[in-house]
Amino acid sequence: MKVTAIICAAGKGERAGFDKNKLLAPLWGAPALWHTLNKFDMPEIGEVIITSSKDDFEEISALAAPFDFAVVAGGATRTESVKNALEVATGDIVLIHDGARPFLSRTLIKKCIDGVKKHRSAICAVGVTDTAVYRDLQRLDRTALKLIQTPQGFFTEDIKKAYAHAGDRSYTDDSAVYAEYIAKPTIIDGELQNRKLTFKEDFDVPPLPPYSSGRVGFGVDTHAFGEGNCVTLGGVKIECDRALIAHSDGDVLAHAVMDALLSAAGLDDIGHYFPDTDSKFKDADSMQLLIGTAAMVKQAGYVPVNLSASIQAEKPRLKNYIEQIKQNLSRALSIPVSAVAVGAGTCEGLGFVGKGLGITAYATVTLREV
Ligand code: CTP
Ligand code: MG
Repeated sequence: MKVTAIICAAGKGERAGFDKNKLLAPLWGAPALWHTLNKFDMPEIGEVIITSSKDDFEEISALAAPFDFAVVAGGATRTESVKNALEVATGDIVLIHDGARPFLSRTLIKKCIDGVKKHRSAICAVGVTDTAVYRDLQRLDRTALKLIQTPQGFFTEDIKKAYAHAGDRSYTDDSAVYAEYIAKPTIIDGELQNRKLTFKEDFDVPPLPPYSSGRVGFGVDTHAFGEGNCVTLGGVKIECDRALIAHSDGDVLAHAVMDALLSAAGLDDIGHYFPDTDSKFKDADSMQLLIGTAAMVKQAGYVPVNLSASIQAEKPRLKNYIEQIKQNLSRALSIPVSAVAVGAGTCEGLGFVGKGLGITAYATVTLREV
């Protein structure tokens, strides 16, 4: 069964008091929303749709691009935003989640999907541990209270029907719409860590723990110069008075990154999977091979976290092409551009690179478990 995730990000974040949407404010060195998107980048989720205001559309689209997630225009209220996203949802099951809750675990996402399969709906909520009173100090029975979170999961046709009935009425969450028009929703255990970023203080969080399953891989590749008028590096064709001799398109940088990925995942090296004796790879587009390598690594249970690469070339001059190379690599690996570093330098006339005989590329990647 295909699962769609709707990530609500079309708010203004007024209570947080930044000079922009709180979801674009930094958390652990990246926009807060990036962390939420990263959590939903998992095999169980077949489609992700993000709601965005007009003002943030460009910035949110740039964050979504490496993940291949869709962005739709939100509305003036959360209810309207969800309604717009539901219109284009194609999954059988839909999980609706606040972009402002980046701290949830992937285990909770899986529990929510399983909850829908079992109970038709699954609303994450936690119990109350503090004593609860009304403003006039009259006591509330805290054992009867729950604090509702997201994700909230439903069969897509049910929640679409509920929102159609809701018309122009506005609700603070989706379980309220479901409860009013479909049935009493099922509550499942949420997570205390799954807090919502509402105020500025909510962004004061302890530093990220190191990735416990982090794996590092190193890759290197060299090609010699021959006759020609262009070299390809990171998928960018760069004019040059020579070309790199190769069976494929000779993209040394893409090859070094592929080797680093395979090595970090504990797989065999590039020559094993893409032998230069195989006519299939004659003049191959190495960026397509890189995308294929990333898919193999994902199959082995890992996805990239960051890439650091360095190119040694006496010519051509690479400075003006680095940004495009970074964007291509970011797209191929589904990581943000900020997680891709590409350096370039000459060898001061020393060795084969210095003598202009060829180009060498080095790459290091880290992986996390899917
Ligand atoms: N949201 C949305 N469309 C809206 C309003 C809110 O998609 N018209 C999203 C927010 O981006 C947020 C989630 O719904 O991820 C929960 O809303 P909330 O925490 O209230 O965020 P904001 O509305 O942005 O914040 P504030 O109410 O402080 O302005
Ligand atoms: Mg709001």
